[in-house]
Amino acid sequence: MTPLSLTVLLGSVRRPRVGPLVRDWFVGIAGADPRWRIDAIDLADVDLPLHGTVPGGARSPIADRLDRADAFAVVTPEYNHSFPAAIKNVIDWHGAEWAFKPVTFVSYGASSGGIRAVEQLRLVFPELYSLTTRNTVALRAPWRHVDDAGRFTAPPGADDAARATLHELGWWARALRTARADDRFAA
Ligand SMILES: Cc1cc2nc3c(=O)[nH]c(=O)nc-3n(C[C@H](O)[C@H](O)[C@H](O)COP(=O)(O)O)c2cc1C
Repeated sequence: MTPLSLTVLLGSVRRPRVGPLVRDWFVGIAGADPRWRIDAIDLADVDLPLHGTVPGGARSPIADRLDRADAFAVVTPEYNHSFPAAIKNVIDWHGAEWAFKPVTFVSYGASSGGIRAVEQLRLVFPELYSLTTRNTVALRAPWRHVDDAGRFTAPPGADDAARATLHELGWWARALRTARADDRFAA
C-alpha cells in the first residue's frame, strides 16, 4: 500500500519552548511505522502573517504540503485554556487542504495535559470538513521529563497512547483517502 502522508504541525512558536521535544518524540513513534510518511511543519519556521493582513490573495507557503496530507497531527500546548493563536492562523489560511481528512492531537500543558486546547480545536475542524479522532495524546507537564542534557523521555503509557492514536488515525486516513479518490463522492 502507498504510505499515508502524515503532516505533523507544531503550534508553539515562542522561544524557548517545550514543543519540539514533544513533536520529535511523536514523530519518532510515527516514523518507525512504514505505513506513514511524515512531513513535520514547525509554524515558527513558516512565514504566515496574521490571516487577512496580506492584501491581494497571497498564497500560503505551506498550502501544497497540507494539500498532500492524508492526515494531520496537531501538536499543541495549552495557553489560557485554549490553543495558540498560530494554530488558528494556519487553520484560517487554508480551506480545501483540510477537507475530508482526519486530524488528531498531541497536547501538553500543566495538570490538564492540554485537553482544553484539544476540546476547542474539536469545535473548529468540522467547519473545514475535517474529522477529529476519538483518541489523542495528552502529556502532563512534559518539562518534568526533560533531563539536564535537554532530552525528553516520555512518561509511562505515553508511547502506547501515541500508537493507539496513530492506529485510529491510520484507519480514518485510509478510508478517507479512498473516499476522496472516488468520483462518486466528489462534491
Ligand atoms: C501564555 C501562556 C498561557 C498558558 N496557559 C496555560 C493554561 O491555561 N493551561 C496549562 O495547562 N498551561 C498553560 N501554560 C503553560 C504551558 O502549557 C507551558 O508553558 C508549555 O511549556 C507551553 O508550551 P511551549 O513551551 O511549547 O510553548 C501557559 C503558558 C503560556 C506561555
